[in-house]
Amino acid sequence: MSETKKPKLRSAEWFGTQDKNGFMYRSWMKNQGIPDHEFQGKPIIGICNTWSELTPCNAHFRQLAEHVKKGILEAGGFPVEFPVFSNGESNLRPTAMLTRNLASMDVEESIRGNPMDAVVLLVGCDKTTPALLMGAASVDLPTIVVSGGPMLNGKLNGKNIGSGTAVWQLHEQMKAGTITLHQFMSAESGMSRSAGTCNTMGTASTMACMAEALGTSLPHNAAIPAVDSRRYVLAHMSGIRIVEMVQEDLRLSKILTREAFENAIKVNAAIGGSTNAVIHLKAIAGRIGVPLELEDWTAIGKGTPTIVDLLPSGRYLMEEFYYAGGLPGAIRRLGEGDLLPHKGALTVNGKSLWQNCEEAPIHDDEVIRPLARPLIEDGGICILRGNLAPRGAVLKPSAASPHLMKHRGKAVVFEDFEHYKNRILDPDLDVDADSILVMKNCGPKGYPGMAEVGNMGLPPKLLAQGVTDMVRISDARMSGTAYGTVVLHVAPEAMAGGPLGIVQDGDFIALDCHNGSLNLDISDEEMTSRLAARAGSQAPVAKSGYQKLYIDHVLQADEGCDFDFLLGSRGSAVPRHSH
Ligand code: FES
Ligand code: MG
Repeated sequence: MSETKKPKLRSAEWFGTQDKNGFMYRSWMKNQGIPDHEFQGKPIIGICNTWSELTPCNAHFRQLAEHVKKGILEAGGFPVEFPVFSNGESNLRPTAMLTRNLASMDVEESIRGNPMDAVVLLVGCDKTTPALLMGAASVDLPTIVVSGGPMLNGKLNGKNIGSGTAVWQLHEQMKAGTITLHQFMSAESGMSRSAGTCNTMGTASTMACMAEALGTSLPHNAAIPAVDSRRYVLAHMSGIRIVEMVQEDLRLSKILTREAFENAIKVNAAIGGSTNAVIHLKAIAGRIGVPLELEDWTAIGKGTPTIVDLLPSGRYLMEEFYYAGGLPGAIRRLGEGDLLPHKGALTVNGKSLWQNCEEAPIHDDEVIRPLARPLIEDGGICILRGNLAPRGAVLKPSAASPHLMKHRGKAVVFEDFEHYKNRILDPDLDVDADSILVMKNCGPKGYPGMAEVGNMGLPPKLLAQGVTDMVRISDARMSGTAYGTVVLHVAPEAMAGGPLGIVQDGDFIALDCHNGSLNLDISDEEMTSRLAARAGSQAPVAKSGYQKLYIDHVLQADEGCDFDFLLGSRGSAVPRHSH
């Protein structure tokens, strides 16, 4: 009787030989008290941990890793936990986006250079999810995502408040004089009262949903609250599953197909997901070699209703989303309405996305709304092009005001973020509710790192008049927890010579989300002469260090802001020996 042939383990290239090299690789590991039998052919599973006390959203990850280990051990694997650069959105300056690519390099090289047969990615805070998926995609081992989960609902005066969104709202209210500084400050501790990521449908929740929709995590990974014991059960089950994935040789490239990305774009519309997903999905797709264009967001997402009623677009928070049925519930609704393009897309548990979701219970029709009663009829991300954004810009209709989606107004221009912060307070600023706020030099090269400053707060004098939204345009990003009629990711950015750089006070700009256009109302001749006058006039913002590497190699927003030299998968071939 012949045994089923197990695939040769990659880790055997380190630990499987009885010679000088095998001696060295094993001997140093044994200083941790690891017995001989652990090295005799068990699948070695890396646990890539973004734990850090400076990334509060991921600060519970040591505990999370312990539960993953239990599952790995139970299934006969050998867990090895390792740290990588932790991209904490709330503390890192000038922006965590600056180091997303750095983290992805750390992840890629850590996985490839070390003895592992598969990897579990522990992700949470915004940039940690794309950074780890990008790095892992460039190696392409069997990979499973375990997210840290969202915080419990924030509380203020007995009411729910949402991460980030509450900050923007309360700050505007304070500037308008409707709440006091004391009231503003008292929200601080109630907003963040448990472990976990932002509990709104911000970028962290969005990317957790994207990881699940792409098929890279077990069902329900996105929404189980961080402190719910079921989060730890999911971590345990993911540990069991990753060992099986080694036997099945179920690599990331079998999951991250074009079909998976199309499903994810559809799901992003249904959840009212963050504009940051446009950049991150492009970057992940670029690493695994799947073509994805800005126009795919229109072609695939347009017409998809937003049915998940979460802040900042809607009313509820991630806690309610999980109790209502979580992402499988939302995907079930899409599938039943024939809005899930690829029901057969494979996921990490070996089943298709649809098999995982078709019978998912839905417990609350207010949170996961029926398709016939959506929060927003068309929740797709709006892609804009025109002479002001030749390589595209994005706007999130579900966070915007319907009356401003087609708008022509006079530009009030800020040369950079500091100029904006000073000038917006000027009581004599020539601005009214129809003006369009334009900010330059906040793109990938300009900030650098494309900070989340695109949702410029409104002029205090207009807030005092009761104005709650205005059209805003920049080459920046905005937090997924923010809202407003905000045109973002204008490409090319001002610092890269884009036309955004030549807009002047008083120029007219026309925005039309219905036909996807964004135009500066000046003649072609005027455009050409202004661009020529500006060319080469701006010095790069860094002359050395990582920031110089970043500025020299970062791609524009339409290309996912990855580094030009990181595109593609470099595979999992075992590097040559170190000694
Ligand atoms: Fe970490 Fe929002 S700051 S998820
Ligand atoms: Mg954010």
